[in-house]
Amino acid sequence: MRAVVYSQTGGPEVLRLIDRPLPEPGPGEVRVRMAVSGVNPTDWKARRGSLAGEPVDPAVVPNQDGAGTVDAVGEGVDPSRVGERVWLWEAAWQRVDGTAQEFVTLPERQAVRLAAGASFDVGASLGIPALTAQICLTASDAGPRRLAPNALSDQSVLVAGGAGAVGHAAIQLARWAGARVITTVSGDEKEMLARSAGAEHTVNYRAPGAAEDIRGIAPDGIDMIVEVAPAANAALDAAVLAPNGTVAAYATDGGSEVGLLVRDLMGRNIRYRFVLVYTVPPAVKEAAIADVTAAAADGVLEVGTDAGLPLHRFPLEQAAAAHGAVEGGAVGKVLIDVTESADSAA
Ligand SMILES: NC(=O)c1ccc[n+]([C@@H]2O[C@H](COP(=O)([O-])OP(=O)(O)OC[C@H]3O[C@@H](n4cnc5c(N)ncnc54)[C@H](OP(=O)(O)O)[C@@H]3O)[C@@H](O)[C@H]2O)c1
Repeated sequence: MRAVVYSQTGGPEVLRLIDRPLPEPGPGEVRVRMAVSGVNPTDWKARRGSLAGEPVDPAVVPNQDGAGTVDAVGEGVDPSRVGERVWLWEAAWQRVDGTAQEFVTLPERQAVRLAAGASFDVGASLGIPALTAQICLTASDAGPRRLAPNALSDQSVLVAGGAGAVGHAAIQLARWAGARVITTVSGDEKEMLARSAGAEHTVNYRAPGAAEDIRGIAPDGIDMIVEVAPAANAALDAAVLAPNGTVAAYATDGGSEVGLLVRDLMGRNIRYRFVLVYTVPPAVKEAAIADVTAAAADGVLEVGTDAGLPLHRFPLEQAAAAHGAVEGGAVGKVLIDVTESADSAA
């Protein structure tokens, strides 16, 4: 079978397409015939490592996310899972076997049944972005630990950077849960995408008066901010938060040191929560997986231009170009077609 691997850290050029034996699923594992592999910033960051040219041994198959069909099961796994359409999460987290290959074996809990109406493109876009978004949206003191219709119906949510992959999923999940959703964007193209994702209000965070604009939309303040750039947006966030509001920060875009006015935030009981999807407690991860699976089944996590997340497709042999596109800041979702027609919703 064909697999993309890297055996040293570095730029996209370290990715090589090789042939290797078909893996057999071990106890408790499934083998998945990959249809689509999803690429996220975490994948190129892992590939680059902290220093170029460091040996990676054994070689690593990149990419955490993907979707496909179970084609074999190991000992202890229900054989009826063969033929099941699944989405994968964290395939390459502390493992050498990501999704940029024709077949991947992994623990069966990391291959989750994909609803009949959800395409492989949707399935390959859930793992990192939608799980992160769910964890952020459930990170407040008073708010729900689970998302479902009406779970956030009394909440005002601000999604920073609503045209990004995580921001897109956060808009969709927050709307599904009934929140009033405002998002910040940097310009007209991204405003259009964020609105297509379901954002009711958009504000250009680079324009003067962004805080006043948000305050005008949500006079009582924002209950939850899903934040991609906590350092760059610290002042804006402080200006618009409601008492007892939460900032769920999941990235360091725009800087990794945050300056906060403690007395002001303390007086309003503001919560800052930092989120890394890989390391949340197992129960939090399980809840996120269940909610994201349910939302995908409800058809609210669609991808593509009409849904506000343009797709950029590459064949497996162009995995390096796919990584380069994400690294270069592609607007939308970068997918790698591995073995099957990408649009095959059952
Ligand atoms: N902690 C975790 O578990 C976790 C999980 C997933 C992703 N991440 C990280 O999160 C970041 C985003 O991932 P992604 O896949 O969503 O990337 P993406 O699709 O490239 O989206 C990033 C978005 O952030 C926007 N942005 C940048 N600076 C902003 C600012 N100051 N205010 C508002 N929006 C801003 C960008 O648009 P403009 O520049 O045009 O505004 C872009 O739309 C990456 O660094 C990734 O590694 C972390």
